[in-house]
This record gives sequence, C-alpha cells and structure tokens, in this order.
Amino acid sequence: MVKLSISALLLCATNLVAGHGYLKSIVVNGQTYMAWQVGQDDYVTPTPERYARKLADNGPVPDFTTKDITCGRGGNIPAARSIELKAGDKVEFVWDQWNSAHSGPVFTYIAQCTNNDCKTFKGDTGNVWVKIDQLAYNPSANPPWASDFLRERGAKWSVVVPPGLAPGEYLLRHEVLGLHVAGTRMGAQFYPSCTHIRVTQGGSTKLPSGIALPGSYNPDDKDGILVELWRINQGQVNYTAPGGPVWSGAAPNANRPGP
Ligand SMILES: *[C@@H]1O[C@H](CO)[C@@H](O)[C@H](O)[C@H]1NC(C)=O
Repeated sequence: MVKLSISALLLCATNLVAGHGYLKSIVVNGQTYMAWQVGQDDYVTPTPERYARKLADNGPVPDFTTKDITCGRGGNIPAARSIELKAGDKVEFVWDQWNSAHSGPVFTYIAQCTNNDCKTFKGDTGNVWVKIDQLAYNPSANPPWASDFLRERGAKWSVVVPPGLAPGEYLLRHEVLGLHVAGTRMGAQFYPSCTHIRVTQGGSTKLPSGIALPGSYNPDDKDGILVELWRINQGQVNYTAPGGPVWSGAAPNANRPGP
C-alpha cells in the first residue's frame, strides 16, 4: 500500500516537470477568466467555478487515440461557467508557462454544444470540431515553429471567434502539439484544453462539419504526427499539421500570418 502511494506521488512529480504547461486563464475584452488551476483546484472545497474543463496535470495526453484527446486528461467534466462574448471578439489563451523546447504547431478548434448546452456536451463523438486557428512551421519566420512563437510571446495565444457566428454555447479547444519525440510511434505530445463560451450576439453562420476527436489524429500520420522534427527543420520533408485545414469562415490568424 505504502509503496503504491509513493509511486503514485512520483508519477505526479514526473507529470509536473518544468517545460510542460497548461491553460491558466482566458482574457476576453480586458477581463480575465480562470481556467482549472492544475495542482490547486483539486484540493479546494467547494470546487472552484472555472471557465475551462479540468485538467489532471500539465503533461500531454498519454494516449491521443482515446477520449482524453477531446478536452485533455481530467475526465472531460463540464466547466461551471461560460465566458459571455460576441462573435468576432478576440479570445486570449494564457498558459501558466511555455518554456519548453517542444516545437510543433498550435491549433484552436470550436464545437457547438448540442442544444446550446455545454453542461451536457462532451464533444467526444461525431465530426464536431471545426478548426479556426492554426500555425505550424514557417521556415522564413522567426521562430519557425508556432509553439516556439507561443513561448516568445510569453505563453499567450489569441484567436478570434468567427465573425457572424450564430449565438449559442460553444467549446473552444485550444491545443499545442509537441513534436520533439514524435519520431517514435505515439510519441507526439498533444496539450489540449476546452473553454466554455456563450456567444450572446452574432450572425446566422452555422459551423460546418469538422473532425472527430478522438478519431482524426492517426498515430501513423507521417505528414503531421509520426514525424522526425530534425528532418523537417533541415527541409528534408514538408510538414502538414493534423486535423485538416482551417475553416474558410474563420477570421485571419490573430498571432501572425501562416503557415
Ligand atoms: C516541400 O514543398 C515545396 C512547396 O510545395 C516543394 O517545392 C518541395 O519540393 C517540398 N519538399 C519536399 C522535401 O517534399
């Protein structure tokens, strides 16, 4: 029993190593909304009311073919609150830190919650995730990789809620993909999170069909997931991020022009 607890503790410590990161807060129209505070909120009673779904730790999803990929490892428990905003508003995701050399792309997807009720929506089945933001590898940019750009921006990333989007409740699924050990099958490190938003004013635009998560991240995708970073960095192979192209209804990238 005692031995088990000690190894559990060691596992936790391993997962909290420096270099990893998690979504700490979300800034919209000058107001800061707290995400789940990893390593703190689990110990607070009553449970703090947050705007993003619980994450168990600051590490990557252990197996990206499972339902942990939908909103991160943490049980995909609906958040207590939703951020109220308008279509076209800018959302800034603030990570606790991103000091790692985990080069790779950064994405944001959106899904409409069934019946506009995110409290009962998991998002783990069906083609519900629509990509609205992506930066990957741009050899003529400095730094070329999006996640390194995230680090240089102070671990902050912005996305614009699609202009004209119909009012309702949605999840914003923001994600970093670390490719530093992606040359090993299942080595790609995904760091997703899900933020609840309620679009109070917008247009009539409905989301198209998107991708399924889990389901769309293929461990054998040699263009975007099972890749050797150094080969891309040396220009030996081209990189194509997983999850398909950005939806044409999305706003221009709010961080820098692509790819
Ligand atoms: C990568 O893509 C560019 C532009 O399409 C192309 O010119 C180049 O040959 C490709 N490189 C490789 C290694 O496939």
